[in-house]
Amino acid sequence: MKHYIDFHEDVTIPELDALLDTAIDLKAKTKAGIPHPILAGKTLGMIFTKSSTRTRVSFEVGMYQLGGHALFLSSDDIQIGRGETIHDTANVLSRMVDGIMIRTFAHQDIVDLAKYGSVPVINGLSDDQHPTQVLADLLTIKEHKGTLKGLKLAYVGDGNNMANSLLHACAKAGMDISVASPKDYTCPEKYVLQAQEDAKITGSKIVMTEDPYVACKDADVIYTDTWASMGQESEKAMRAKIFKDYQVNSDLFSTADKDAIFLHCLPAYRGYEVTEDIIDGPHSVVFDEAENRLHAHKAILVHLMSNQHA
Ligand code: CP
Ligand code: NVA
Repeated sequence: MKHYIDFHEDVTIPELDALLDTAIDLKAKTKAGIPHPILAGKTLGMIFTKSSTRTRVSFEVGMYQLGGHALFLSSDDIQIGRGETIHDTANVLSRMVDGIMIRTFAHQDIVDLAKYGSVPVINGLSDDQHPTQVLADLLTIKEHKGTLKGLKLAYVGDGNNMANSLLHACAKAGMDISVASPKDYTCPEKYVLQAQEDAKITGSKIVMTEDPYVACKDADVIYTDTWASMGQESEKAMRAKIFKDYQVNSDLFSTADKDAIFLHCLPAYRGYEVTEDIIDGPHSVVFDEAENRLHAHKAILVHLMSNQHA
């Protein structure tokens, strides 16, 4: 693994297993208070042109727990916000840090950062993909269900960055995935085709539908995300109307397997994409999922920035 930008392109099936094993090992060490300074002396630069709670805190704390250091670089403060090119930023940062994590709008900017820089690049979310989140999601599912292969995940709502990366992740992990979105808001075909490529190898089944009830039937995991992503704030009212039949509520949830778990990358908007009784109810594991960002990201950092895996 050289970069962690696109789950389909950058993570092979054996690498996915190795990342999950490392995350489980590092989580156990963290809980037991066993020091693991695998990245002592290393620095991660973290560029943010969008807001973040979980991604920022988990990467920063993760680097600290690994014995290294993280730098928070907001686009409000660094020269990228005043028009310095990605090319120059990549060159300069590569001379000083050992890895770069970036959260931004255009996916291509992340690809370019990796192209022009000489250190590993991690995609902390683009308009198109959210690959670090899905590793934490798989870890959470594995912890709660004991396995990944053969399970069914239903994603209900906007065919956005989250849905695209879940297609990639489920197909690699051998999980079935059904995505239910309104007609004009489904995932771009490119991501469905990429997932189908891996599904041929792992045996996972991919279903794209407009009907949330078809997607959720007998599902082991139900997942949703905001109807208006970062950058779409002005469309919030319009989207609330378009997506109103795509709310995860008790009626929809009752069609899933009786032991189904509920996941949401957060931040969540109760009363929109999910009702309070579901996200705050007994099937919800969203805070385990949020915690697992820390453990999953540490695994990514170790695999990219050290030769010695945990
Ligand atoms: N899920 C997620 O990426 O959260 P943040 O936007 O808070 O980082
Ligand atoms: N789809 C959401 C995910 C936030 C973590 C967004 O891009 O805003």
